[in-house]
Amino acid sequence: MSISDNVSRRMVEGSWIRRMFEEGAILKQRIGEENVFDLSIGNPVMEPPPEFDRELKKLVENPMPGMHRYMENAGYAETRAAVATQLSLETGIDFNINDIVMTCGAAGALNVVLKTLTNPGDEVIVFAPYFMEYGNYIDNHGGIVTVLPTDEHFIPELDVLEATVSAKTKAVIINSPNNPSGVVYSKELVHQIGELIGKKESQFGTQIFLISDEAYRKIIYDGLEYPQVFHHHPRSIVTNSYSKDLGLPGERIGYIAAHPDCRQVDGLMSGFIFCNRILGYVNAPALIQRVVRSLQQVTVSVAEYQKKRDFLYSHLVEMGYSLIKPQGAFYMFPKSPMEDDVAFIRELQQWNILTTPGRGFGFPGHIRVSYCVADSVLEGCLEGFKKVAQKFKLC
Ligand SMILES: Cc1ncc(COP(=O)(O)O)c(C=O)c1O
Repeated sequence: MSISDNVSRRMVEGSWIRRMFEEGAILKQRIGEENVFDLSIGNPVMEPPPEFDRELKKLVENPMPGMHRYMENAGYAETRAAVATQLSLETGIDFNINDIVMTCGAAGALNVVLKTLTNPGDEVIVFAPYFMEYGNYIDNHGGIVTVLPTDEHFIPELDVLEATVSAKTKAVIINSPNNPSGVVYSKELVHQIGELIGKKESQFGTQIFLISDEAYRKIIYDGLEYPQVFHHHPRSIVTNSYSKDLGLPGERIGYIAAHPDCRQVDGLMSGFIFCNRILGYVNAPALIQRVVRSLQQVTVSVAEYQKKRDFLYSHLVEMGYSLIKPQGAFYMFPKSPMEDDVAFIRELQQWNILTTPGRGFGFPGHIRVSYCVADSVLEGCLEGFKKVAQKFKLC
């Protein structure tokens, strides 16, 4: 075989999300799109807000000389300044442009951060259930992924973390609001994780980074306040994205924000800028950097997503499914009534409902249901969910 064994193996293990997406495309072709209830992928249904179109139109109608040329690998100073100002406002910590690197989405941000930090064999801790691409991203840069279990509410267990962090630990990745569980970590928990990492740094004489993947930070419900990670560990790095909260996943735009104390970490920010370049991203897309600059306080309608959550959650609970009410993002993670979560998603598939098995998130025995879809899809899937609930006598 001419392709690498590692890539070959990872392709076979594959992404369940993509696999279901592709199976869905075939099914839609066969029986018509309106007859398939595709809850398998987090591709936001909502169009970007009107402010996005307005800014884009302004740019296109008033082109500036050189606006499509190469730029600094960190991104436009004006855009980084806008991100820094917004973060200062939200955190009360003084960020400036030197703390920000614009990236090709959160995925680009995570790869840049991991490339910059990881020596071969360094360990990076993640908590299951987790966005499975983390495993691929960590492997991309020679790191070893260490997956830790969570409790019955999908919350990290501090004693397990304490027992796992070692002299080889380079980073801990957290993701809140979480894909796939929808759980939002409390301020106390983030504080305890930060404190524990600090203690371990002193014990081993190492630096351990807390990477907070905040792709869903602004999609948060019930008036919950988002706990900022920056207050809880000086070596905290946020990877963020406009994919979900502005509905722009195809445009590939996000950023890295490092705690201002990281200015003391030798070469860290220059490392990010260098890796943005040598990973082949070079810089985040020019046009969209200019557009998001003035959209720092704009989001798609979170109330609309909350309505979708309330609708699906209340129906699934009434049917007897066991699930934790999501507090953010746009996924829920019900327990599979069968031990084999793949067998269970096949049961739902018989009713043309597409979901993703929990094992696609390192957490078998559950399924992920993505509700960033049209209301008609949510209404249409209820009958199938009900039939399956009856079959498994959930009520
Ligand atoms: C938890 C999480 N992190 C990162 C990403 C990547 O987002 P982006 O489109 O910004 O690269 C996703 C995408 O679904 C995600 O769910």
